[in-house]
Amino acid sequence: MTATLVDGIGELVTNDPAWAAPGQPADVARLGLVTGAALVVESGRILWVGPHDAAPDTDSRIDLGGRAVTPGFVDSHTHLVYAGDRAGEFAARMAGTAYDGGGIATTVRATRAATDDELRALLAARVAEAHRQGTTTLEIKSGYGLSLDDELRLLRLAREVTPHVTFLGAHVVPAEYAADRAAYVDLVTGPMLEAVVEQGAASDLDVFCEPRSAHAFTEEESREILLAGRAAGLRLRVHGNQLGPGPGVRLACKLGAVSVDHCTYLDDADIDALAQSGTVATLLPGVEFSTRHPYPDARRLLAAGVTVALATDCNPGTCNTSSMPFVIALAVRELRMTPAEALYAATAGSAATLGRTARVAAGEPAELAVHDAPHHVHLAYRPGVPLTRVLVV
Ligand code: NIG
Ligand code: FE
Repeated sequence: MTATLVDGIGELVTNDPAWAAPGQPADVARLGLVTGAALVVESGRILWVGPHDAAPDTDSRIDLGGRAVTPGFVDSHTHLVYAGDRAGEFAARMAGTAYDGGGIATTVRATRAATDDELRALLAARVAEAHRQGTTTLEIKSGYGLSLDDELRLLRLAREVTPHVTFLGAHVVPAEYAADRAAYVDLVTGPMLEAVVEQGAASDLDVFCEPRSAHAFTEEESREILLAGRAAGLRLRVHGNQLGPGPGVRLACKLGAVSVDHCTYLDDADIDALAQSGTVATLLPGVEFSTRHPYPDARRLLAAGVTVALATDCNPGTCNTSSMPFVIALAVRELRMTPAEALYAATAGSAATLGRTARVAAGEPAELAVHDAPHHVHLAYRPGVPLTRVLVV
């Protein structure tokens, strides 16, 4: 196999504290910046990282002409397997209609009616779209099937494109169970979960815990579903505190979830619970952008020492973007994260929720993004400009 030298890197973000320089603020130090850098890649693995002057000889060489290189983005929260479109719902929301999760039923109908090949083509296009914007790792949830066969079908399709697959049978209670919610919880925690585990269809389980939505799950229902998932050996994720204050965050922390996502409405007890647990707070500011909810208080979370991740939540209802650069720009402008904090959260923070690292170091996979920019600050400084692509070596 041929080793390739990737040279001419204006700024390399490694997320490796070994490269921290004295006097740097903590958020920048954590990025492990190397200026005037090079790296060597062979067979998809990084062999060497360092300053250009010290680079070893290799058979082939790519010159990036001073561009910045970062770890590829890790999008740890997406709902990419679905059919149909809810642009009308979005337009109505921009005219004042509130989001309550009711539109999920529209996507469930369209998704159930689609063939495997139709869903596969839609999914492939969405994955390619994310890739074109620098995303190298994706988590994908089910949740628009909501019957045993349809949930397993969506999980199988997701597994074709990523190892990070989450069972979200507990997205909402489907229409046919509206009069008997307990029967649907029994289906999710019984036959659906058994089949998921038997087929190794998912590594994680998620629940939309939102007592404010008539469609989503109450605290008690969510606890039952999460406990069943945990007993079955799945890692737990929770959609929590999205539409208002609620029990989701505390429940996630108490049950040892790897991540609680949204965290839009937090009180002191939620912040304490997060600070005392290993649960990551995954912020999805594209949702607030697209629903006109207030943005989550990232500064308060960071001040409390909570690990913060950023992800898109790409879905047809609350946030139809696959763009991690857009999410980073929102995090900096609206959540008041520094560019360094936002980039770290969109790489190392979200990777932590998937049991991965996002580090540029010898021995690590070469999952990298390259930016038409001299340094990472441009991700937020030049919003909406297509600066980024996955670096293919
Ligand atoms: O994360 N809140 C629950 N699920 C998605 C929205 C799904 C939809 O509206 O289709 C979310 O926001
Ligand atoms: Fe979501």
